Amino acid sequence: MVCLAISVKLVPNFKPNNYNFVMKKLVLSFLFLSFLFQPIAKADEGMWLPMLLGEQVYADMVKKGLKVSKEQLYSMNQACIKDAIIIFGGGCTGEIVSKEGLIFTNHHCGYSAIAAASTVDHNYLRDGFWSKSKSEEIYAPGVHAQFLMKIVDVTDKVNEKIKDIPAMELTQKLPGILAEMATKETEGSGYEGRISSMFKANQFLLFVYERYKDVRLVGTPPESIGKFGGDTDNWEWPRHTGDFSIFRVYTNKEGKAADYAADNVPLKAKYSLPVSIKGIKDGDYTMIWGYPGGTNRYETSYGVKLKTDIENPSLVDLRDQRLKYMLEEMKKDPAVKIQLAGNYAGIANYWKFFDGESKQLLKFKTFEEKQTNEAAFLTWAKGKPEFENLFNEYSKMYDAWRPYAKQRVYMTEGIFGSPLIKFASSLQKLDAALSKKDVSKEDIAKAIDAAKADRTNFIKDENVVSDKNILGFVTQAFYNAIDAAQHPAGFYAMINSKFGDLKTKSTYEAFSNYVFTTTAILDNAKWDAMMANPDTATLHKDPAFMMANAFNTNFNSKYAKLFADFNAKNFVLGKAYLKGVLEMNKGKKMYPDANFTMRVSYGKVGSYSPKDAVKYSHICTLSGILEKYKPGDYEFDAPVKLIELAKAKDYGQYADAGAKDVVVSFISSNDITGGNSGSPVINGNGELIGLAFDGNYEALSHKIKFDKDLNRTINLDVRYLLWVVEKLGGATNIIAELDIRK
Ligand code: ARG
Repeated sequence: MVCLAISVKLVPNFKPNNYNFVMKKLVLSFLFLSFLFQPIAKADEGMWLPMLLGEQVYADMVKKGLKVSKEQLYSMNQACIKDAIIIFGGGCTGEIVSKEGLIFTNHHCGYSAIAAASTVDHNYLRDGFWSKSKSEEIYAPGVHAQFLMKIVDVTDKVNEKIKDIPAMELTQKLPGILAEMATKETEGSGYEGRISSMFKANQFLLFVYERYKDVRLVGTPPESIGKFGGDTDNWEWPRHTGDFSIFRVYTNKEGKAADYAADNVPLKAKYSLPVSIKGIKDGDYTMIWGYPGGTNRYETSYGVKLKTDIENPSLVDLRDQRLKYMLEEMKKDPAVKIQLAGNYAGIANYWKFFDGESKQLLKFKTFEEKQTNEAAFLTWAKGKPEFENLFNEYSKMYDAWRPYAKQRVYMTEGIFGSPLIKFASSLQKLDAALSKKDVSKEDIAKAIDAAKADRTNFIKDENVVSDKNILGFVTQAFYNAIDAAQHPAGFYAMINSKFGDLKTKSTYEAFSNYVFTTTAILDNAKWDAMMANPDTATLHKDPAFMMANAFNTNFNSKYAKLFADFNAKNFVLGKAYLKGVLEMNKGKKMYPDANFTMRVSYGKVGSYSPKDAVKYSHICTLSGILEKYKPGDYEFDAPVKLIELAKAKDYGQYADAGAKDVVVSFISSNDITGGNSGSPVINGNGELIGLAFDGNYEALSHKIKFDKDLNRTINLDVRYLLWVVEKLGGATNIIAELDIRK
């Protein structure tokens, strides 16, 4: 799952939050803390925990246009907006919009499921899909819906558990401890618990979820609508993407969450959002609910600099080429297009993001701003031994790691950016099992089965032509970019002796060709023979395994410890820094960094000026699609029917009174990030008006720095969604299910 879907794999140093948890009654100290922790941030910045809004934040929401009560937002005793918000799949948000469990989310959130349901003959990615009755809905294996049941403060319990653990071991041990506590607290309840750390481990909350595993595809527009504008328009406004797809949650006949079964029935929803087609105006109140995946608003100046100097540019250069090789093959063959589409979209999404992030961090002078904040912190910290040396420590810590940071990115995003080498690397588990003394037959059999299953998945997604080009490229890129002292021993000497001059591209092409033609991984007969009787010697002779092993061994023997120390120290210092920041700002409104727990952000529909002399309207319309339309283009093609309807101004009940057109999308000042994809945009009356699907380019610093003037969330207008469903999909059955407010 990608995008404003979070993408854990793709972000360097992004640690998935600890999916771990515990249980306890809501205690007073929690309410007290929440009051301290959530007093007023600047402009529309802030991703608030909806159950901890506090009077100040709620009052501010009302002042800005909210008309519903606090209980209608979040309550343990009555059905409320919170009950309509779900985690969709692995990293997106969805909302329940009918009594029968209908879900709206983004097209890019449903993308992998749509691709998986597609074949060259039933190409739903290309042609779209509309079920006209429930029996036509398509089960989406692996796509789950999770509802939040309750939240409990477990800070004291966690602190008690970790009080004797040496600080430098905490980052390693904490996830396991939280997972264990969470499991214990939810045992036998049928629910799942996860404990999330807030304010860099200064507060711990247990979130309890119910997981539904039978989710079915109900409808999707063709990709030429759902991804209109492609990567050219991605992360940009103006924007004309119809980024939505529609699913449904199913339960067993007793109405309980259950595995897929053909005779399961639609969920009887506790609460579903009404849908407004009354339209929006610049300045209208908007709130966005959902699951922002991660921010790091208290990143230090050192971290910002490492990112803009080394990490982001390295990642961008490497992905740039990998994407080019993938796209070449995708354009040649529709089957390859379907095969690579999901992975490609994920890599491309954060390729552009990290490029934009660096540019905006530099534009906003975030490094300098952080330095100023840190100086102010030090002034406050003077004479407080717990805090006054923090930044000396940070400085030392970054000095120790910086010389190796590039190598790590060139490994993860370079060498292991070749799918073949990445898979070969996974065979180290088999290698380890085989090399263990006194290993049981059973354990070996298990390791073999796992390797076989992994290979089946790998082969399904493997396109040899693009991968071969990628491998040649990344091998050379590593050689050129990384200090020779950090190369794996003997590896490039081997290439030099067997394939030629290390400065020449063709050397690496010959090497890659050799790997691809010789490895057993891509040859069924050789692979089967190897798995029938695996031994480490044969494995180590395989060129793909050999390469993965060379780079892993190099890193593990010389740099892994440094990296682990860097992370451990970063955690310890971060925890202390945040503790200081909270003390220093006592009584002020603060929100915890995003960590894929439910949040609400509020703001307004808002036009903006991205640069001198330019002013962007708050809406995009169907007429804009006609302007961008390029028949046959990879990114700007659109269905003929859409073009005809737009030209005929056949808007039905969905036209905007002011624009005299169908509004496709609008922007708002809300503070969101990856993971919020698919999030409902809700008006002051608690009605759905849109789906958040992106952030704007001019403020892509937002994970680290929210800019109060330029930050915008890009939202699909729900009226365009309905127009497409009705006029292009003819799926009036879907429209009939909704509670539409005119
Ligand atoms: N930038 C969007 C997000 O992160 C995802 C858009 C997907 N589209 C694409 N062209 N890759 O939510």
